[in-house]
Amino acid sequence: MKTETTIQGLSASLSKARSSRKTIGFVPTMGNLHEGHLNLVREARNLCDVVVVSIFVNPIQFGPNEDFDSYPRTLDQDSQLLAEVGCDIVFAPSVEQMYGGQSRLTNISVSDITNDLCGAQRPGHFDGVAVIVTKLFNIVQPNFAFFGQKDYQQLAVIKQMVADLNMPIEVIGVPITRAEDGLALSSRNGYLSDEQRQTAPAIYKALKNAEAELKAGQALADVIANIKADLVANGFEIDYVEARTPMLQTIDQFDQDVVIFVAAKLGKTRLIDNIQVAFVV
Ligand code: PAF
Repeated sequence: MKTETTIQGLSASLSKARSSRKTIGFVPTMGNLHEGHLNLVREARNLCDVVVVSIFVNPIQFGPNEDFDSYPRTLDQDSQLLAEVGCDIVFAPSVEQMYGGQSRLTNISVSDITNDLCGAQRPGHFDGVAVIVTKLFNIVQPNFAFFGQKDYQQLAVIKQMVADLNMPIEVIGVPITRAEDGLALSSRNGYLSDEQRQTAPAIYKALKNAEAELKAGQALADVIANIKADLVANGFEIDYVEARTPMLQTIDQFDQDVVIFVAAKLGKTRLIDNIQVAFVV
């Protein structure tokens, strides 16, 4: 496995693959990798000839009071894990490499579907994601790109951007990887105290209850209210609990497939999760 830290070095490493028309699979990450990321890499490995993983903590997608400075940087450990799952090239550029040089005057903003859910709580976040993902897509020029369904709204934003801008890339959403107790894996789980870690799976339990209640015919509004009550009883501070169609349109009745989204804080740590429930006639 090679590690490249410059755009030039990465292009040189990929030039042979490009000229021999090998398929390139790309997994963008911010590092501090866990099984969820490794499952994205495994998917890429199954589908593509060459697998590139980027590790870059992207400053422009963090708000002023968010955890950019404290976000865990664990490149050595990440590289070891990536070698074990068959990654070919790690691209780990510096902030200077990605944003140095002339000042950036171009923004990329996907409207409508970024207005609520995490978009409402984190102004500018999805613009920052869209900019860095576009830059990385242009640098890596992958055939396939892999994103986790845990960040469902991010996945929807990337799919929309790729379609709107005719980017020649197939975006693949990979199902959420969970711990045995149901907690969705996330780099931010590392911020939880032991006690909070015991409580955190209550989010997934509430989502599974919601799925059962919907299938039993309970009204969507009541199901959402039950999730909120469950989370508050477990000591969470709720950012949002919302139901949307899979395309992120609002929905007030369970008369089509629905995705229920949760963002909630345990202490200072903000956790997100979602569950998709299929509507069967
Ligand atoms: O999901 C992430 O880790 C980041 O938002 C991404 C896609 C790597 C862009 O920085």
